[in-house]
Amino acid sequence: MKRVLSGMQPSGKPHLGNYLGAMKRHIAVQEKYECFYFIANYHALTTVRDKKKLQEMTRELAIDYLALGINPGKTAFFRQSDIPEVTELTWILSTVAPFGLLERAHAWKDAITKKKKDPTVGLFNYPVLMASDILIYEPDLVPVGRDQKQHIEIARDIAQSFNNHFGETFKLPEDFIEEDVQTILGTDGIHKMSKSYGNVIEIFAHEDELRKQIMSMVTDPNRVKRDDPGNPDICNVFSLQKIFSPNKIAEIKKNCKSAKLGCVDNKKALAEAIIEELKPAREKRIELTKNLDYIDEVLKKGAKKARETATKTLDKVRSKVGL
Ligand code: ADP
Ligand code: TRP
Repeated sequence: MKRVLSGMQPSGKPHLGNYLGAMKRHIAVQEKYECFYFIANYHALTTVRDKKKLQEMTRELAIDYLALGINPGKTAFFRQSDIPEVTELTWILSTVAPFGLLERAHAWKDAITKKKKDPTVGLFNYPVLMASDILIYEPDLVPVGRDQKQHIEIARDIAQSFNNHFGETFKLPEDFIEEDVQTILGTDGIHKMSKSYGNVIEIFAHEDELRKQIMSMVTDPNRVKRDDPGNPDICNVFSLQKIFSPNKIAEIKKNCKSAKLGCVDNKKALAEAIIEELKPAREKRIELTKNLDYIDEVLKKGAKKARETATKTLDKVRSKVGL
């Protein structure tokens, strides 16, 4: 059975982009593959510098994932920091990771061009930690959103560099990006939906808040008056309708073009479709929040399984390099 691995940073409340680009797919492939999923709290240290906040966001993300349907009986679900072997491997990999490769990483280039104040070594090294995360579990596939593709390529390059120096050791991982899941645009209709752009639709926001976020979405800018015909091909609400209401999409398209359907009604329908899809998760989330000991148990059990694999890989690596 193929092995799948992915991680997600606990750096804010999950939004529709995270859900469609990553979380929903992580849940969906569990029955078909052996899955390892973790909460990337070491990575989050590059931006979160508040102990309580980090602990709280880590726990909240664990609850979100379990509510969405992680099956802890089958999938290893754990905190990145419960596997300290990952940090040792990060050091070893950093000794074969080309400096220029990391200088070309998008996140680093962004930080430099935006003149981020005092960029840290941790931020620069972020892709090496991610390569270590991946390579230590020897996965076949790494499902992530399109914006993470470069990080997987860097992991492959670092693995290849290690193999060249020390002999065949790491399996080269493949990204696993669903062709029909494009990057989800934010409520502004321009940038990708992202916590850092403040243009998100939070999947577990209170229902009224969720409706409000959806009602704020920008639609076809040329449709000024209610009876102007709309152009669904450039409308972000329509792109989401394709995902959440696939059976009604032909009708929505026709009625938008003929101006029979207004943007406000279209958004209202989208909001209800999203709320409907997430209803079971929302209910499960309330239950899970009442039993935090259970969350902790799941994460510990997941870490035990992950650590067995990680230790084996690290032993192999230590012996190859002469430690
Ligand atoms: P953010 O940009 O909000 O900080 P993250 O970088 O934490 O999101 O992304 C977590 C996961 O969600 C990654 O696998 C990423 O590829 C995916 N993802 C994030 N934003 C989007 C989006 N707008 N569309 C599709 N996938 C996304
Ligand atoms: N960098 C990823 C993100 O921001 C999270 C992550 C860390 C990850 N380690 C990983 C994803 C390993 C896949 C595999 O979304």
